[in-house]
Amino acid sequence: MTSPIWHPFTQHALLPDATLVTGGEGAWLQTDLKNGSGGRLLDAISSWWVITHGHRHPKIVEAIKKQADELDQVIFAGFTHQPAEDVARALLEIAPAGLSHVFYSDSGSTSVEVALKMALGYWKNTGPKNGKEPRTRIIALEHAYHGDTVGTMSAGARGVFTAAYQPLLFDVVRLPFPAPGREQEMLALLRDAAKGAAALIVEPLILGSGGMLIYSPEVLRDMAAICRDTQTFLIADECMTGFGRTGTLFACGQAGISPDILCLAKGLTGGSVPLAATLCRSEIFDAHYSTDRSRTFFHSSSFTANPIACAAARANLQIWRDEPVLERVAALAARQEERLARFRDDRRFSGVRRLGTITALDLKVPDAGYLANVALQLSRFFQERGLLLRPLGNTIYVLPPYCVTAAELDLVYDAILDAAGKFA
Ligand SMILES: Cc1ncc(COP(=O)(O)O)c(C=O)c1O
Repeated sequence: MTSPIWHPFTQHALLPDATLVTGGEGAWLQTDLKNGSGGRLLDAISSWWVITHGHRHPKIVEAIKKQADELDQVIFAGFTHQPAEDVARALLEIAPAGLSHVFYSDSGSTSVEVALKMALGYWKNTGPKNGKEPRTRIIALEHAYHGDTVGTMSAGARGVFTAAYQPLLFDVVRLPFPAPGREQEMLALLRDAAKGAAALIVEPLILGSGGMLIYSPEVLRDMAAICRDTQTFLIADECMTGFGRTGTLFACGQAGISPDILCLAKGLTGGSVPLAATLCRSEIFDAHYSTDRSRTFFHSSSFTANPIACAAARANLQIWRDEPVLERVAALAARQEERLARFRDDRRFSGVRRLGTITALDLKVPDAGYLANVALQLSRFFQERGLLLRPLGNTIYVLPPYCVTAAELDLVYDAILDAAGKFA
């Protein structure tokens, strides 16, 4: 019988059968694939960018088991629990300076929805200033991706993914991506757009789903300065970049900036179970603090701050304290750079690039772009080679867990080279 499951971002007519995964350990998944490596797949994209230390880190597994034995779930309105308290405090210790409150949710998309609602709530609750209406305008970047809920799709780039839902989406001011040479153009537009805007939302330093597009810390710093000058909130969506991916704990750190609102998800639990957090400055919390109940921050989900997820996050944060994770990240970044070298002069590729532990390169094909036919062919080719890689159209990227070894990376890049021989 065919499966009744409808998979995410999957065209079932082209990909009728999902691969059955039966286990995970370190950088590897065990599947029922009949490939040359006994069904094993090297998880070179960290299972959609979530796994940081590797699958089933023993300390995270232990924390989950222990918490499941004590408290599985509890309503979080008016109630709290120790794992949530511990994680909130630990996050504020390591987050960019100036953030004071933590709001939990359960996915990257919801953490961004919360961020947008916090910003608008602030402007609504602080009231019209100088006879003007509260600020509501959101500014976002071309090629941005912030999730697939209605609010996050609105902030994200429009295209084939959003066309059907266009009637539901709200307008945002869209700024050009600050590619090298276009930074000043973008900053000039931001200077204008930020006047009277509610918030600017950005993926700091690298736009993930938009194609692993990298921009400089200087531009991010300039964007933050414009936001500060215009009292526009800066929302840093670090769902993908957070927890070491870009070489530092948070990407914002490389620009030396503190956003007003910070979104964290994916690597927050080491990628083991879903949890997200939106951190904000005290003035945003304070704008909602009132005996007037209409000023409440009206957001919740059933599983807000699920205790098991928080216990996993607490164990993850402890791993960051106890283990040399940033050294592992630096070593991985260096190994990634070495392996890119042989592609830099290869004419079958363009845009060979790296930020921290993430590399990307664009395979030159006639139908470049997200719907490039080569994407599915490449995924299949890599699976047969025992690799989980899921190109974004003709953009092949490598975003592995930090435990991946040099020899394992060689498997990845040898396969990319062979793929070019076959598909370019
Ligand atoms: C920058 C960014 N924001 C938000 C999201 C949405 O996260 P989730 O898929 O957990 O809803 C993603 C997911 O890839 C992301 O990369």
